[in-house]
Amino acid sequence: MAVFTHPISFVKEAAPFLHLCWKMGWNEANGGNFSWRLPAQEIEGILSRHYPELAPQAAVPMPIDEPELDGEYFLVTGSGQFFRHALEHPNQVFGIVQIVEQGTAYRVAWGFSSGAKPTSEFATHLVAHAIRKRVSNGRERIILHSHLPEFIALSFLEPLDSRALTRALWEKMPECIVIFPDGVRVVPLLLPGTVEIAEASAEALKHSRVISWSHHGIFVSEESPNKVFALVETIEKAAAIHRKVLSAGGPKRRISTEILTELAEKFGHMMVAKPDWLDDA
Ligand code: 13P
Ligand code: ZN
Repeated sequence: MAVFTHPISFVKEAAPFLHLCWKMGWNEANGGNFSWRLPAQEIEGILSRHYPELAPQAAVPMPIDEPELDGEYFLVTGSGQFFRHALEHPNQVFGIVQIVEQGTAYRVAWGFSSGAKPTSEFATHLVAHAIRKRVSNGRERIILHSHLPEFIALSFLEPLDSRALTRALWEKMPECIVIFPDGVRVVPLLLPGTVEIAEASAEALKHSRVISWSHHGIFVSEESPNKVFALVETIEKAAAIHRKVLSAGGPKRRISTEILTELAEKFGHMMVAKPDWLDDA
């Protein structure tokens, strides 16, 4: 296949990333969604250079006001769009929206060529961007929601408890505590695409980049496509190991609290947070 290219550098990077997520079995059909908080000046420059004819569209009210995001631009997947189509139809799969009117509305600035709206989970994406922008001092810019098979399977096998799930995953590979020291926060099953799921996720997102939407999937924040991919593939691998161990009759031993504590000390300089849950409760 010819090398993928696109006049918008962010689409050039995001489209192959979405295709890879589909290949991994993480985002079937329209399952899952993606958004990227874009540097405003850069995207305004790109749009005026490559799409000078585009006129701003009408403002659409937001489900939840996000005054902290006023003026921000987001590259976001359209509701009903397939990750598998990102390379063939990037202008249809993606849109760029700007948050306007003091964070009470958004305006489509580019894309959604078939008339799609932003993902049905846009409310949670925006809540997450607002919180994670604040918590990470602006470092985190990407949100990915995927329907990970092994990770979802665990929500049918294990207690719906943040500490229990986090410990089960940390105890499967030494890298886990280093890569997600902030753990996985569990949100109960709620109707997808609602303000309720956004509100329930908000509290969890103050403490962690990673949420489990029980029986539904993962919702993750990071800096770049590369970093979000690394985080998700590590969690999905640990979930797969854990599920295999459960299928074989359950763990006979685990990576101990002592080793986890030593890992947290040795690799503390690489970790985004100090881990909770390092006691033996
Ligand atoms: P969208 O197609 O609206 O993004 O919905 C997919 C999904 O996974 C909802 O949780
Ligand atoms: Zn989903």
